[in-house]
Amino acid sequence: MRQNIVAGNWKMNMTLQEGVELATEVNNIVASKGANCGVVLGVPATHITEVVKAVDTAKVSVAAQNCADKVSGAYTGEISASMVKSTGAGHVILGHSERREYYGETNAILKEKTDLTLANGLTPIFCIGEVLEEREANKQNEVVKTQIEEALFHLSAEDFGKIVLAYEPVWAIGTGKVATPEQAQEIHAYIRSVVADKYGAEVADNCSILYGGSCKPGNAKELFANPDVDGGLIGGASLKAEDFHGIISAF
Ligand code: PGA
Repeated sequence: MRQNIVAGNWKMNMTLQEGVELATEVNNIVASKGANCGVVLGVPATHITEVVKAVDTAKVSVAAQNCADKVSGAYTGEISASMVKSTGAGHVILGHSERREYYGETNAILKEKTDLTLANGLTPIFCIGEVLEEREANKQNEVVKTQIEEALFHLSAEDFGKIVLAYEPVWAIGTGKVATPEQAQEIHAYIRSVVADKYGAEVADNCSILYGGSCKPGNAKELFANPDVDGGLIGGASLKAEDFHGIISAF
């Protein structure tokens, strides 16, 4: 069944101590007030082990923000999917636009990362989305379709069923310029139709598609009210427990 999810993406913010404090706060709020959705914290790799200890992972899953496209070996500085798994993390954010833009991640690389993430029993939160020029040229649908096709459509229906998608228009990330609820619904419905054409209506219907890009407590409710928006991937507003909870409680 399709699950609503609110996932934080801390990016390269927070010292270990600050991160453990924030995760503890989020965990306590979720424990005391409950959550009508899955809650995920995407934390820096250095923090995963301690954050896993600080939360009840049955209620707050911990995510890596990336993993290597190789299994193991002489890849200095990389962190493999099996290492991420061994920390107790449950998810891996893959293909974030910042990774695509600044670290050269292509759909071909992301295909490898997706396979390794799934092979290690982790759930990919797979990011797709167009840049401003593509939106202005009305090319957003073809951009997201290509991203999904090239990185994910080699998967079996069973494996695709384990993927969480996150639609993040790059022009809305960290800019304060949020997609309108209509824009979000329109492209989320399109993404679901692309999945349905490949894997059938049931797989598409069960796929969680999150929205990301300047999602805040003040706009989360109207975004999440759309039938094809199943939660959010939250950057800036995930860095304060109160704001993050404000978004969780939009469900
Ligand atoms: P933002 O970031 O919420 O700060 O716009 C979202 C993301 O990059 O995942």
